Amino acid sequence: MKLWGGRFETGPSAVFERFSGSLHFDRRLIDADIRGSQAFARALESVGILTAAERAQIVEAFEQIRSEASREPAFFEGASDEDVHTLVIRKLKERAGPVADKIHTGRSRNEQVSLDVRLWLREECDRARGLAAALMGALLDLADRYPSAVIPGYTHLRRAQAVLWPHYLLAYFEMFARDWERLGEARRRANVLPLGSGALAGSGFPFDREAIARDLGFEAITANSMDVSADRDFALDFLYAASVSMIHLSRLAEDWILYSSEEFGWMELGDGVTSGSSLMPQKKNPDSLELIRGKSGRVLGSLHSLLVTMKGLPLTYNRDMQEDKEPLFDAADQLCASLEMARTVVDSVTLHPSKPLAAVEESWVIATDLAEALARSGTPFHQAHQIAGRLVLESIRAGKKPSDWTSGALQAFAPEFRSEHALLLNPLEGMKSRSVPGATGPEPVANALAAARRRLQSMLQ
Ligand code: ARG
Repeated sequence: MKLWGGRFETGPSAVFERFSGSLHFDRRLIDADIRGSQAFARALESVGILTAAERAQIVEAFEQIRSEASREPAFFEGASDEDVHTLVIRKLKERAGPVADKIHTGRSRNEQVSLDVRLWLREECDRARGLAAALMGALLDLADRYPSAVIPGYTHLRRAQAVLWPHYLLAYFEMFARDWERLGEARRRANVLPLGSGALAGSGFPFDREAIARDLGFEAITANSMDVSADRDFALDFLYAASVSMIHLSRLAEDWILYSSEEFGWMELGDGVTSGSSLMPQKKNPDSLELIRGKSGRVLGSLHSLLVTMKGLPLTYNRDMQEDKEPLFDAADQLCASLEMARTVVDSVTLHPSKPLAAVEESWVIATDLAEALARSGTPFHQAHQIAGRLVLESIRAGKKPSDWTSGALQAFAPEFRSEHALLLNPLEGMKSRSVPGATGPEPVANALAAARRRLQSMLQ
């Protein structure tokens, strides 16, 4: 069946039909398509195109198709319809007979496809946000399991300053919390009713668009019919939010691939999230994390794919835009799968706190603490920095760790040092001076953890 054909003398070639058909992927929109069409049938009744009895018959037939589609594995078998919208109308005709011919009154597939994608995307945003919140909860649980573990924080992948393990995990909590917000923003932008826009010029029937919006749970109605046919930026917003979240996941994956390596030895990933080698019996590979990192490239590609598809299209609808769906579907699937995988990895982690602590103690991550202490006691910071730098150089030459120094030796090295500065040779002491909100001191970290729990609670409501 076709939704067009009157002005054609011959049908489409088999090659073109194969090339342009989208049913094999947009069938995923069938539930949204039917829900939208049921609301549209009610709208058609309100403008007098359908009688109450016809509307009831159509809505009921749609309902049967909807449940058949969800239950019946063979539902799509053999279907050669151009797209999901066409298939749904054909099924309606088969079930409801001639009354089905009225369902497309004043409606275009251009607005219908926008409607379907918006309905579908709202739910995907909710799904991804739920999984992001679960991951955030797992990060907080992991922080609680090792509340006082200390690791070297890195810049340039060189040991920089000591931080609490929970402080490190809270950095990711913040990133995923912003992802959660961004996905909420993407949902808000998708949650606007396009129906009533017609093909591009607006419907010729006096629909109460606000009423249709309420019927389908939309927050608002779109303001311009041409914009509806031309625009896919709500999909781009989701793809951007998904891409940023995948970047965060990928960086977490990269960190932990390193931290769980023999070279670092900080943590053990659970057997359940690692794989062996077919040849090397000793191997325990972090494939789950590598796949998260790998899939992030794929999602970023989806964002680029749609950006490039949209660039330079003349207003309004162009068939190019059918290419929006595969990247969008794939990005949503990869994002959700990766969030779920990451959460499972987080739950599986065993930290060996003595390893990162040794890395802290045998390096000079306390150099900044010393320089700042000197500055607090009156030495201008530039000089303080020089003194601490010379101390590090001297220690490296002599093969000394911070713990090899004593108060007396420090004062002999530079008269600016005071006896109490020797306390800072212990990295745990320096962390205590970092007490501003957002810092790694024990107090701000305890506050941040408690605040994160409260924020997570409110996200789950
Ligand atoms: N399958 C099409 C798409 O995904 C639906 C809209 C078709 N509209 C049209 N004018 N051919 O974009």
